[in-house]
Amino acid sequence: MLAIIGGTGLSKLDGFKSRGREKCSTRFSAEPVAIELCEFAGVTVAFLPRHGKQQAVPPHKINYRANIRALKQLGVTDIVAINAVGGIHKDLGPGSFAVPEQIIDYTANRQSTFFEEDIAAVTHIDFTYPYAEGIRQQILASVATVNKVIDSPQACLNGGVYGCTSGPRLETAAEIIRCQRDGCDMVGMTGMPEAALAQEAGIEYGSLAFSVNWAAGLSVDLISLDEIRRIVEAGMEFVTAVVQGIASAYH
Ligand code: HPA
Repeated sequence: MLAIIGGTGLSKLDGFKSRGREKCSTRFSAEPVAIELCEFAGVTVAFLPRHGKQQAVPPHKINYRANIRALKQLGVTDIVAINAVGGIHKDLGPGSFAVPEQIIDYTANRQSTFFEEDIAAVTHIDFTYPYAEGIRQQILASVATVNKVIDSPQACLNGGVYGCTSGPRLETAAEIIRCQRDGCDMVGMTGMPEAALAQEAGIEYGSLAFSVNWAAGLSVDLISLDEIRRIVEAGMEFVTAVVQGIASAYH
């Protein structure tokens, strides 16, 4: 089964029929994880808004382990994650998209592995390629299909390096210069440890990154939350169409 992990602004899947709600208990949280089952074009997908239904869980408070374990228990084999980012690459201005290929993890103090207790032996995953190429191609194919039928096609970078910071504050200008020097094309707060936990759980994982602002110091103006909200709102129809396309092509 395919799962969609919704990011900022995506707390429901428009156009999908609700097929009920699952409450999945795991040993990683006192409260069960609420996962919506939704159907589009005869395909049922699991939907998990990582900031909660009310969009009130900040990036550093998300229980990534409970979320990924809950999806695994539900039988999820593939995840398409939606991640809002600040753009660093020149083609990643606000309102544009990317399907990243690599990650640099700058986060600290997050529960970032399943492999630390009750293990028979020390376990390391290979994380050379954090995003599954098959899922990346499904996302890119859906973006291309949606772009063919809409009035204003959306720019989408194939690839790029996602730098993950802890947040919830945005970065300093110097931190973004460092990210740039490191090779980051975009910066967000939710890609890790989500991608690594998916890999540990044996779930294929890909991301559609949505640039909602220029990263700190890269625009004349300071970053405005109102402007971010406006960009998020304007982009959700495209994100939903891409998700519908991925679901309908999913077998
Ligand atoms: N930095 C980190 N995370 C983000 C940003 C940003 O500029 N925009 C959206 N998520």
